[in-house]
Amino acid sequence: MIKFFDIKKQDKKFHNKILSKINNIILNSTFIDGKEVSSFEEKFKRFCNVKHCITVGNGTDALLIALKSLNLKKDSEVIVPAMTWKSTALAPLNLGLKVKLVDTEKKSSNFDLDDLKKKISKDTRVIIVVHLYGNPGDIKEIKKIIKGKKIHIIEDAAQAHGAFDFSLKKKIGSIGDIACFSFYPGKNLGAYGDGGCITTNNDRFNKNIRMIKNLGSLDKYDCEVPGINSRLDTIQAAILNLKLKDLNKNNKKRVKIAKIYKRNIVNNKIEILNYKRGCVYHQFIILSKIKKKIIEIFKKEKIQFAQHYPISINKLKIFKKYQNKTFKNSEFLSKFGLSLPIDPNLKHHQILKVCQILNKL
Ligand SMILES: Cc1ncc(COP(=O)(O)O)c(C=O)c1O
Repeated sequence: MIKFFDIKKQDKKFHNKILSKINNIILNSTFIDGKEVSSFEEKFKRFCNVKHCITVGNGTDALLIALKSLNLKKDSEVIVPAMTWKSTALAPLNLGLKVKLVDTEKKSSNFDLDDLKKKISKDTRVIIVVHLYGNPGDIKEIKKIIKGKKIHIIEDAAQAHGAFDFSLKKKIGSIGDIACFSFYPGKNLGAYGDGGCITTNNDRFNKNIRMIKNLGSLDKYDCEVPGINSRLDTIQAAILNLKLKDLNKNNKKRVKIAKIYKRNIVNNKIEILNYKRGCVYHQFIILSKIKKKIIEIFKKEKIQFAQHYPISINKLKIFKKYQNKTFKNSEFLSKFGLSLPIDPNLKHHQILKVCQILNKL
């Protein structure tokens, strides 16, 4: 069996330490807002080279809270790529904001900048740039496009912990007005349950975000804004504090695996998605019209795979208004994209086996 992602193996060296940390938290009953939470916020903001890090319950909440902190007028437009995880598009919908979809590039997960230019209107207030698959979005170019306009950039960095934008020479999470991370177990930095955080260099957004996530106030008993309860619990923070130590190492291993795939997959029926330098390869995607055949063989050979994502955002039932519009490249990606195993601890011979199977088709 070639596993898609093996969290147990990845975290083996931390296993006993994690158990002892959990034991201490139980003994001290510091389940909520324990020291590990503020310590993780300190460490992660240093990791991202950004002024503030605010932990929240999950990546979906992070997007919702980030958008809410901007205090936008109802009906403001939020631009979202047509290929992403549905959380990116649900956040504006849940706040009564208008979602405007933009197609991705032909063989990359980033915005098609021509389509983006066309879709920006006088009501556009936010562009959510998703660093999908760990691949940095084109924020440098997007900043040029929106220069002088009242448009904020939110980074959806749920899949891009530790990625680097070489064109801006900045860490992902420190570039937009606000950035949102998820610590879902399968992420490059994954907790043992739900978790997320928001980073920003802006003091005002930091304050708004802290109030919103904390039931509308920094004061426990007062309430200034209609907030929600969204917390990273102490146990998850303790686990993340340990695992953060290995994030760079594991990201490097992912980059190495991607290099082996790129070098060794040679089949004109299979294309590899374009990735930039600085990518942390949360997913490694191939595109192929013989995807069904590949899936059959992978099942037979016990090679785990995944699809990110088989339904583009415009095809989700909730987006009825988009059902008759085409988002050619995002639909192509959903139809023909397949995610190869990318566990950082895959053995060289396992990666080569995947390549050999693909090359025989
Ligand atoms: C691109 C993207 N955005 C947002 C999220 C939401 O994160 P969570 O699952 O922690 O709510 C995810 C996680 O799956 C994601 O991949």
